[in-house]
Amino acid sequence: MATGTRYAGKVVVVTGGGRGIGAGIVRAFVDSGAQVVICDKDESGGRALEQELPGTVFILCDVTQEDDMKDISFLLRPWFLRPFADLAAWIVLSTTLATLALPHLRKSQGNVINISSLVGAIGQAQAVPYVATKGAVTAMTKALALDESPYGVRVNCISPGNIWTPLWEELAALTPDPRATILEGMLAQPLGRMGQPAEVGAAAVFLASEANFCTGIELLVTGGAELGYGRKASRSTPVDAPDIPF
Ligand SMILES: NC(=O)c1ccc[n+]([C@@H]2O[C@H](COP(=O)([O-])OP(=O)(O)OC[C@H]3O[C@@H](n4cnc5c(N)ncnc54)[C@H](O)[C@@H]3O)[C@@H](O)[C@H]2O)c1
Repeated sequence: MATGTRYAGKVVVVTGGGRGIGAGIVRAFVDSGAQVVICDKDESGGRALEQELPGTVFILCDVTQEDDMKDISFLLRPWFLRPFADLAAWIVLSTTLATLALPHLRKSQGNVINISSLVGAIGQAQAVPYVATKGAVTAMTKALALDESPYGVRVNCISPGNIWTPLWEELAALTPDPRATILEGMLAQPLGRMGQPAEVGAAAVFLASEANFCTGIELLVTGGAELGYGRKASRSTPVDAPDIPF
């Protein structure tokens, strides 16, 4: 049940909204009074949210399948928008397909929020493809922000650091010592904990509803993980130490 009105009367489409960060974003927008279309390739989480949260609709879709995304555009155009006042934000897991929403967003002066990652800026070991795609998401955000400015459509991205989600838990479970992996993940932030999906949701609502003079920005939601010096050399790196006098 909505408790706020910051985004009342607006329609928000959240791809990957069935669980984790996407679900946190869905909840935050529902709390702010928006009507939310939850898109996910997995039915279980999205359907459960649809049942739980009035003002949400679930659509089964895989954002890597252009036809699925065209279906959403089609649904939004003729009749979906009628019960909903406006398409105000399009929050995406797979960003190139955001372009399908642009005709609607230009009409409604909406905005796009891409979900990138801190590692797109600072890198991550053994993760070249992931890091490269996240760097591209951030770069694309800036380029699209320029292209869409004449139409009044703002385009921003959020770069989360370690956020405790089912994905994080699944990846930790694959490591030899999941407990140690999770502890390491918590200690990577000066704040000494991981973030919550709700905290990314709050950042998304801010970008959509109040950050009217922000376009092309990368909002870090990281608990300060990128700050300061830390131990960066791996065990296999030869250490060229000067004579240490102690
Ligand atoms: N969790 C973190 O620490 C973290 C950090 C930085 C960035 N991110 C980014 O945040 C986003 C969400 O991560 P998460 O941890 O919440 O993941 P998650 O796996 O917990 O949730 C992702 C959701 O997206 C859905 N999904 C995946 N592929 C899809 C597709 N092709 N079409 C439609 N739905 C799809 C999944 O079914 C799932 O419901 C990702 O882009 C991830 O790279 C996460």
